[in-house]
This record gives sequence, C-alpha cells and structure tokens, in this order.
Amino acid sequence: MTAQQTLQNKNIVLGITGGIAAYKSPEIVRRLKDQGADVRVVMTAGAKEFITPLTLQAVSGNPVADSLLDPAAEAAMGHIELAKWADLVIIAPASSNTIAAIAAGLAGDLLTTLCIATAAPIAIAPAMNQQMYAAAVTQENIARLTNRGVHIWGPASGEQACGDVGQGRMIEALEVVEQTLNFFTPKPPAFKLLITAGPTREAIDPVRYISNHSSGKMGFAIAKAAQALGGEVTLVSGPVALTTPHSVNRIDVVSAEQMHQQTLVNAPQHDIFIACAAVADYRPALVCEQKIKKNDDDMVVSMVKNPDILADVAALTEQRPFCVGFAAETQDVETYARGKLQRKKLDLIAANNVSVTGQGFNSDDNALTLYWPNGQLDLPLTSKDMLAKQLVLEILKHYNTQH
Ligand code: C5P
Repeated sequence: MTAQQTLQNKNIVLGITGGIAAYKSPEIVRRLKDQGADVRVVMTAGAKEFITPLTLQAVSGNPVADSLLDPAAEAAMGHIELAKWADLVIIAPASSNTIAAIAAGLAGDLLTTLCIATAAPIAIAPAMNQQMYAAAVTQENIARLTNRGVHIWGPASGEQACGDVGQGRMIEALEVVEQTLNFFTPKPPAFKLLITAGPTREAIDPVRYISNHSSGKMGFAIAKAAQALGGEVTLVSGPVALTTPHSVNRIDVVSAEQMHQQTLVNAPQHDIFIACAAVADYRPALVCEQKIKKNDDDMVVSMVKNPDILADVAALTEQRPFCVGFAAETQDVETYARGKLQRKKLDLIAANNVSVTGQGFNSDDNALTLYWPNGQLDLPLTSKDMLAKQLVLEILKHYNTQH
C-alpha cells in the first residue's frame, strides 16, 4: 500500500448503464483501483452496446455481473451478497432510464435490484442529452433520489456527443474518483446521535436477574446507519451479543439505573436521542447480597419502578435533544403509540407490532409506523439495516425542519 492509497479496503460496485459516456468507465475502474479499492462492475444490457464486459473484467480483475438470472454468476457472488459486499455503489454513467427506474423502485435488472437490496450509500453520475436532463420528469426523479440520501455527482456542462451544448454530460473519470475520495474522507459530524439499545438486567441476587428478549439488533442497526450517514454516534447498550458498529462510541451498561445515569450525562451533548432499549419497567426492591436458597415453596420478589430514561431526557429544559421513542405494542398500536408520544413529550415515536411473527424482537426484519404530532408514515417490512437507514433519514428531516 502506498501513502496515496486512501481507498484501501473499500469495496465499490460500479454500475454502468447505456450511454456514450460508458467509454469513461474503464478509466474510473483503473483509477479507483490505483487508490486501493476493490471494484466489481455491474452492467445493464444497454451498457454492453457501448463497451464490452471483457474490457471491464480485465481492468477490474473481477468477473462482470450483468444478469439477474445467470446461475453461474449467482453461484459465484449472488446479487444479495454483492449488495452486502459494497461499501459504496457508484452508477457512472447513469442514464435517464436507470435514474427513473431507481426513483420508482423498479427491480427489472441486476443494477436496479442491487440498488434496492443494498444498505450501502449510492452515488450516481447522470449522463444524458441536455434536454433530457432538463426535463421536469428527470429533475423530479433526481429530487426524489436526493431526498432518499442518494448522492448526485454532476452532471457537467459543455458540448455533448449529439452536438447539443448544455448540462448533462457525465463528469470526467478523475472527478468521479475525487468525489469517491471525498466521500470516504472523514468530515465533521453532520449531527450527533445518542441511542440506547438492548435489554437491561435487573439483579435479584448475585447470580440471578430479570430481563427480556430484546436482541439489540434494531438499535445497533440504527447506530450503524446514522454513522454511515455522517453522524457521530454514542450507543448506550445493555447486555447483547453484537459487535460494535464501525466508529461508534459504545458505553456498556447492565441495569436500567446504569443506563439512565449514562444517558442523562450524555444527552445534552447530542442533537438527537433515540430510545431503542427495552428497559425493564421494574427492578427488585432489594438485591440480596447472597444467592437466595430454595428453602421455601414459593418466593415473592417485591419490585419498584425504574426511572423512565426517555421521559427524563425529553423533560430536559436546557440542551434537550430531539427525542425519538419506540413503542412495541401487541394491540391498538396507534392509540398506545400516540399516548406515549404525548405523555413522554416526544418529537416522534416509532411503533412496531411485536405480535406479528417475523418482525420485531430478536428478528432480522422489522416494520415500523412513525407518528409525530400531526402526521404519520409507514415504513414497511424490510431488513433492520434498511429500515434503520430509512428511519434515520426520516428523523433527520424532522430534526432539520425544527432547527
Ligand atoms: O412506556 P414504554 O416502556 O412502553 O415506552 C417505550 C419507550 O420508552 C422506548 O423508547 C423505551 O426505550 C423507552 N423507555 C425508557 N426508559 C424506561 C422505559 C422505557 O427510556 N424505563
């Protein structure tokens, strides 16, 4: 590795669509590789009319994926695996057709499917005739993508292959690489997020405790998504079997009282607080110093209420962060969620119906409905990683309108 190689260990999927600017794509691959990136190319059918897969295979050193339904390619690295492998998906050139397909959520070919299946950031470098670029529908599609957190690189202005002059030309290969380097360069955090996750354990004696089934997966996925979206993240976690997401500052706690203490100390230094932990509502009034012996036929544990961490943060009068709660309900989801929103004085609440199998507690998938004082939004069933990204983007929209 040379000192200039700043894309070392970065996995980049380069999507190429059908446009004359595809002749610049091999140069993009070479320059990304010069910087140490591992590049895998995905081509649409249109792209192959302009440049051959063999060229891209040669420069990338990896097989080129061009079909969703190719058993050999799926066996080597399936499209979902490719979607998970990517740290960044770049589409250069991005045709108006592919831009429209991604904006509409179509999954008619490998590249558009990948864009839906990946939790990695996506950047597109539009390339089209100036009139097509200026068309209202293209501008609407680009605005929709920007709202979803997709990065738009370019286009440049100037003379076009068709002879027109105007905005629509793809930016040069070296500019794509510059944008990529810029993308991976650490920047001052766009926002500071504090989040609680996992269960808490309430000791009965030195060897026993009361707890719940929370896995912490949703909170960890949110921490990871927020970090990837430019946030500085502090994660206060109960006991879970999960690895800390990259660059996230983790504070481990065991009991609700410890979680309360750590959260209240840290909250004023953060812009947004998300209470994702399944905090035990009650704890044993007395923790026995020695292990309790089974001498009696029955046993009564007297419990006292734990502090409500979320309500206490939301009640801060100074340096109060934007407060987001979770509501895990088994019935009357909206009524209970809105009740909590009001009672705890929250800015937003994310509700899930934990009685539905395959979502919520301990599952890899989840669906949420977000409620705020004068609105609501459904985030349908998807992986916790994808859902986390959608949730953070939505929270940022609300946070930014308040500030
Ligand atoms: O009132 P309920 O426990 O249903 O509220 C759930 C929300 O409140 C979740 O966001 C949870 O993380 C938070 N909470 C908390 N401290 C508690 C209990 C719940 O922060 N003691």
